Amino acid sequence: MSASPVAVPRVSAYLGVSLDGFIAEADGGLGFLAPYQEAGTDYGYNAFMSTVDAVVMGRATFDVLRGFDVPWPFAERPVVVLTHRPLPATPPVPSTVSTHAGLLRPLLESLAASGVAHVYVDGGQVVRQALRDQLVDALTLSVVPELLGQGRPLFGAEVPRSHWQLIGSESWASGLVQLRYGRRAVNQAS
Ligand SMILES: NC(=O)c1ccc[n+]([C@@H]2O[C@H](COP(=O)([O-])OP(=O)(O)OC[C@H]3O[C@@H](n4cnc5c(N)ncnc54)[C@H](OP(=O)(O)O)[C@@H]3O)[C@@H](O)[C@H]2O)c1
Repeated sequence: MSASPVAVPRVSAYLGVSLDGFIAEADGGLGFLAPYQEAGTDYGYNAFMSTVDAVVMGRATFDVLRGFDVPWPFAERPVVVLTHRPLPATPPVPSTVSTHAGLLRPLLESLAASGVAHVYVDGGQVVRQALRDQLVDALTLSVVPELLGQGRPLFGAEVPRSHWQLIGSESWASGLVQLRYGRRAVNQAS
């Protein structure tokens, strides 16, 4: 008899992306998203976050976030930063933040064991690793009508072919189109 697979939480990615598939400008800047963030809506972000139990983000995303002059946005939720380096001591890191180096699956298994049911993965490299390891259940892309030509990509060659079902879509006068996908099992592809 084979052992049952160890449980992992539901995993969602939720990103703003340019028409040509970038999540940040080449220098990491997010200026291309700024006009759309001022359009009087949060595009469902707070409703999404209300379902999230824990956040797993890349070090580059963490560093950008820490550079913003805003209160820590994740309240009491555990946040795991994937990094090979210690986090800087200043400004002080919230006590809810920890670090992890290595594969996502063991991290997700340990989060599930601690009662986490829904994880938000963030950062291009991290989302690609989660897609590579077929750990992403839901993908929400808010596509803004901007071509960057270069920047930090969302997708890449490490992401294997996979099949997705459109769960919903919505567009706004700002030109942003949000696409919500759920992963389809391989045998649902045709
Ligand atoms: N448009 C959006 O919705 C959106 C969302 C999120 C982020 N962003 C932007 O995207 C940019 C960041 O994305 P990114 O793809 O450049 O980087 P990222 O995924 O945020 O972070 C990559 C870094 O995380 C660490 N890392 C990744 N996987 C790891 C693992 N398995 N184990 C240990 N460490 C690991 C490595 O850092 P070290 O080895 O150096 O520690 C790596 O260089 C930022 O500019 C951010 O603002 C945009």
